[in-house]
Amino acid sequence: MERPTAADQLQKIKTYEKGYVAMLLLRTGMELGLFAAINAHGNGVSVPELAEELGLHEPYLYVWCTTAYHYELLDCAPGDRFILQAGLEEVLVQRDSPRNYEGNIKLTMDCMSGDMAAFAGYMRSGEAFTYQERDASFSEAVAESTRNLYAAFKNVIVPRVEGMQEDMERGAEFLEMGCGNGTLMIRLAELYPRCSFRGVDVDRFGIERARRAIGEKELEGRVRVEFLGGEEFPHESLFDYVIMVVVLHEVRPEAREQLAANSYRALKKGGRLVNVDFPYPAAISEFRQIDFERGIFDQYREMIMGHHLQTRPEQEALITGAGFGDLKRFSVGKGMFDVLVAVKGGA
Ligand SMILES: C[S@@+](CC[C@H](N)C(=O)[O-])C[C@H]1O[C@@H](n2cnc3c(N)ncnc32)[C@H](O)[C@@H]1O
Repeated sequence: MERPTAADQLQKIKTYEKGYVAMLLLRTGMELGLFAAINAHGNGVSVPELAEELGLHEPYLYVWCTTAYHYELLDCAPGDRFILQAGLEEVLVQRDSPRNYEGNIKLTMDCMSGDMAAFAGYMRSGEAFTYQERDASFSEAVAESTRNLYAAFKNVIVPRVEGMQEDMERGAEFLEMGCGNGTLMIRLAELYPRCSFRGVDVDRFGIERARRAIGEKELEGRVRVEFLGGEEFPHESLFDYVIMVVVLHEVRPEAREQLAANSYRALKKGGRLVNVDFPYPAAISEFRQIDFERGIFDQYREMIMGHHLQTRPEQEALITGAGFGDLKRFSVGKGMFDVLVAVKGGA
């Protein structure tokens, strides 16, 4: 790599500054419902019309819209009518799109940015502020950020795990370690009516919301949840699959071995563990590789929560240490998740 100049470095820092302002602008736009409102006007909307419609201060709205135009979030049709740039409807408006990113923006901006702004103090004291010490709004924000992951399961993970599609159609028993508010199990239960699900989590707010949602959808016969750590799960040989979705890195390191052992014990012979998580670099040379981008982001953002992301070799050692074999790994989304599949009683 060529030696960067001071001018290059200044440019780089300004890019980060611009990204920071863009995130704040996005958050404001979401809070005011601007993206949805602009999107609803197929031929674009002028600032005076939009100000009138949403009851906003027109001069400020003008600055917001033109800045969003500068950031290439909005385009402008003749007559200074603003429209959402192509592709952004899915990302910022359509709540059910797998690409909807509003939950992630909210989590970063509303919850994690406050933490990160206070990192200097935490880095001096070494104190932690864990998931379990936070209030219901945090648990809800996390669930919002993962609410569409079922689509990745249905469209990418299930088809790529050999035989899983058939198992799900025929009917399979699932245990989800760290089910949060149960969205994944509920969505999968709706998609695959022959499957049943049992979820455990230590997030009492998540479990309460899961119970309510299961009741509302009348899925009590097929989806059950329990306020319990995976390391305490006592049952044996009941399940075809144990799934974990962005959970293992949040489990206390001292509880991980027991949780992995309980996952093994809970499976029937030949049953499979499907672990979805962000991999963390194992060496400094990996810290600039795309594969680890989300893991690095997540570990930084969550470091004061007592979360320790695992490297690929660490994940594998934990899983084989519990008795699993026949490990297979694939990535989902560039720089996002790794899916690690392991078999009870595998070779
Ligand atoms: C990022 S959240 C993901 C939740 C859910 N899988 C989803 O995709 O929305 C991680 C979850 O792991 C749970 N968790 C952490 N330690 C756990 C443990 N020992 N046993 C079960 N769940 C645990 C947390 O409470 C939290 O709900």
